[in-house]
Amino acid sequence: MSASPTLSSTTTSFTPLSRRFSLTFRQNSNPTTSFPRKRPLVKIPRTRRVVVVKSQATAPASSEAVELTGIASEMKAWVYGEYGGVDVLKLDSNVGVPEVKEDQLLLKVVAAALNPVDGKRRQGKFKATDSPLPTVPGYDVAGVVVKVGSEVKDFKVGDEVYGNVNEKALEGPKQFGSLAEYTAVEPKLLAPKPKNLSFAEAAGLPLAIETAYEGLERTGFSAGKSILVLNGSGGVGSLVIQLAKQVFGASRVAATSSTRNLELLKSLGADLAIDYTKENFEDLPEKFDVVYDAIGQCERAVKVVKEGGSVVALTGAVTAPGFRFVVTSNGQVLRKLNPFLESGKVKAIVDPKGPFPFSQVVEAFSYLETNRAVGKVVIHPIP
Ligand SMILES: NC(=O)c1ccc[n+]([C@@H]2O[C@H](COP(=O)([O-])OP(=O)(O)OC[C@H]3O[C@@H](n4cnc5c(N)ncnc54)[C@H](OP(=O)(O)O)[C@@H]3O)[C@@H](O)[C@H]2O)c1
Repeated sequence: MSASPTLSSTTTSFTPLSRRFSLTFRQNSNPTTSFPRKRPLVKIPRTRRVVVVKSQATAPASSEAVELTGIASEMKAWVYGEYGGVDVLKLDSNVGVPEVKEDQLLLKVVAAALNPVDGKRRQGKFKATDSPLPTVPGYDVAGVVVKVGSEVKDFKVGDEVYGNVNEKALEGPKQFGSLAEYTAVEPKLLAPKPKNLSFAEAAGLPLAIETAYEGLERTGFSAGKSILVLNGSGGVGSLVIQLAKQVFGASRVAATSSTRNLELLKSLGADLAIDYTKENFEDLPEKFDVVYDAIGQCERAVKVVKEGGSVVALTGAVTAPGFRFVVTSNGQVLRKLNPFLESGKVKAIVDPKGPFPFSQVVEAFSYLETNRAVGKVVIHPIP
């Protein structure tokens, strides 16, 4: 790979949103649609009165401006009506804007990000616990609050937020996710967007950082412990390295990747970067308190954990004493980690092939599914 992953900036001047927005209310107009109108693939009850946020946002955060311009009852969204490969994804310009329940808020999506679970879900791997088709995919979002339900206390219109819209990744994920102009979300799944991060940088964080954090917590990870991260360059592993070192106080961090990503591992805080194309981590002379397997090598991972240590297995077959968990979306975790993001101790890694514009979601998924992405595959801008 020629380009280096984008590391988030650590300094910014933050302009309060209210000073950057002009709010205009219109009813039932659809000013952003540029596609031929056709019968909607997805029917959602239409909201009568919403605010449209027209994003002009590009990185970095300090130069972003998001203009609230009007109202839409329909939106553009990526949709699939059957399970399958990337070719089942269709861009639909006439999807109804999701109705907001009393305990939800409506976000204008400014940036979204892809996760392997989006692809596996689209392939029908979680059919038994999925929401009904058709589906608007997407877990990760960064955007602006444009409407709040009557029970929402923590957020107001105009707030810049980020989060993973699905509380349980596999148990009934939302039918209408974040790969759309709008998405409806419960506030407990959101946190204020870190002030120094662009929407694109923030969008790549939620699911991956929640997974990284929850896995470390479940092992009882604490200062002075050692860890080996298998797949240190992917969305989750790149954050496990940073959280282990910067948040939990690891004494030693080792991680695996192919040759091209070894420097990235070191820049994230790895003391030992292992090239899996040249050596087997089982041959190392040392053992670790925790092995965090983000690639599906649990059978090998358990050979390098210390007696009484823990092995997290995010994917693939689990060998004892390894364990699997499925991430829970939690805005409190994001709030807890925001100071580390805002101080620059933990950085957002956006794959340099992106961000992919909204029109190139199929290309973005095809790239993610090569299993070569570095950090996060981000979608930005969104119309
Ligand atoms: N259980 C849960 O709650 C949960 C939550 C999140 C993710 N997951 C799962 O965890 C896995 C990782 O997710 P992710 O988002 O981090 O994936 P990802 O970002 O798509 O991972 C891509 C990375 O994998 C690396 N890689 C490929 N083969 C490798 C190997 N043999 N050894 C080490 N690294 C290798 C690649 O680096 P190179 O090009 O250098 O090889 C690439 O940078 C996925 O299977 C995902 O579904 C589970």
